[in-house]
Amino acid sequence: MNVLVLHGPNLNMLGQREPHIYGATTLAQINAALHARAMAHGAQVQCFQSNHEGGLIDRIQEQAPTTSGVIINPGALTHYGLSLRDVLANLSVPIIEVHISNVYRREPFRHTSVVAPVATGQITGLGWQGYLLALDWLMQHTAPTSQQ
Ligand code: DQA
Repeated sequence: MNVLVLHGPNLNMLGQREPHIYGATTLAQINAALHARAMAHGAQVQCFQSNHEGGLIDRIQEQAPTTSGVIINPGALTHYGLSLRDVLANLSVPIIEVHISNVYRREPFRHTSVVAPVATGQITGLGWQGYLLALDWLMQHTAPTSQQ
């Protein structure tokens, strides 16, 4: 099983970015925890971060044939990234949208997700551990891809 983990704009700054909102854990630490959890279950994760919507789209298109599930924190693209939404809509595998902070307790512009309607589910406000919860769910609910 191969899970694609995508991090959107500014998430490379985790650890130093508004730590009172996003915590002290860095992106490298999150990715390492995901790799370890996946490996313990005989699965693998491919982690990718981009500050550019097109970079995320390119990666999704490239990896789609061998991906059995997607975990994505689109960052602020959540709220307006229609091209990102469209590429996700074309996938047939489960997609879990993750937010570190509880977007519904924050500014009104964060209450809208253009990704949510094409996602299988959403985890928001549970800190970086939301990524691990998403991975656990995928490992329980998805079948390996035939092209691995
Ligand atoms: C975020 C919430 C978004 O509103 C924000 O733009 C981010 C991070 C989160 O993980 O809580 O970049 O997706």
